[in-house]
Amino acid sequence: MTNVVANRHAGRLAIVTGAGSGLGKATAERLAAEGARVACVDIALASATSTADGIGDAAKALQCDVSDPASVTACVEHAVAWLGNINLAVTCAGIGTLAHSHELEFAEWKRILDVNLTGTFLIAQAAVKQMLVGGGGRIVTIASNAGLMGQPFSAAYCASKGGVVNLTRALADEYIKRGITVNCVAPGGIDTPLQGAFAQSLPEGTSWKDMRKSMTPLGNSQPEEVASVVAFIASDEARYMTGSIVSIDGGLTL
Ligand SMILES: NC(=O)c1ccc[n+]([C@@H]2O[C@H](COP(=O)([O-])OP(=O)(O)OC[C@H]3O[C@@H](n4cnc5c(N)ncnc54)[C@H](O)[C@@H]3O)[C@@H](O)[C@H]2O)c1
Repeated sequence: MTNVVANRHAGRLAIVTGAGSGLGKATAERLAAEGARVACVDIALASATSTADGIGDAAKALQCDVSDPASVTACVEHAVAWLGNINLAVTCAGIGTLAHSHELEFAEWKRILDVNLTGTFLIAQAAVKQMLVGGGGRIVTIASNAGLMGQPFSAAYCASKGGVVNLTRALADEYIKRGITVNCVAPGGIDTPLQGAFAQSLPEGTSWKDMRKSMTPLGNSQPEEVASVVAFIASDEARYMTGSIVSIDGGLTL
């Protein structure tokens, strides 16, 4: 982990979704290294537990399906019982597959929208309730370069991430006078298991190499680099930022 800022997040009580893998894991680790206590939330409890165990006393694993309102309510209740009022939420949980749009099953469309967009809203909604009681806080959503541009075979993913981008702006505007900032990080080309899910679902007759070429002009990056951007946006140094969409995608959306 590079350039950790000691105690930058001391006193921060955070919930990080998707904390079992990739960007969520790196974000939970980074925030804890900078002094936050972190509820590590994932649908895969074993993965979340592994992240929390790696962090130690400052972390606790919680299982949650972010697309299920009842699951989110129960999870946030557990998080609050452990942490107190949450004052930081980072929504990293996300999924994606590729398919020709004319062949995309409705169930797959719905699954991707439910997790990526509805899941982001449900966690943000629960976090805002906490932040209104506690006097403010920070929300950082995770979109994608695919929320800012078109990408073949990705109708559901692009739609969900475009939704996250404008959901972020809507929440930022709504709560700007209530001490809550809402910003979005839009990564692209980060080496995580999600990249494998895309590669494995590539439609027949298409080339992952060609897709990748269009995806990452500067080559791939690592989750820790995204976590570093999230840690800054979640900090007091970013007080004046809200409603911002911050790309970290190796130049893909120039
Ligand atoms: N890796 C990239 O290049 C890239 C690029 C752009 C955007 N993103 C976005 O970053 C976020 C994190 O992706 P990643 O690359 O770290 O993927 P990842 O697959 O490594 O991690 C995603 C995590 O989310 C969890 N998850 C999935 N469905 C869930 C649900 N319903 N409820 C709770 N948790 C759930 C998974 O169990 C997993 O631990 C996603 O929103 C993804 O769309 C990633």
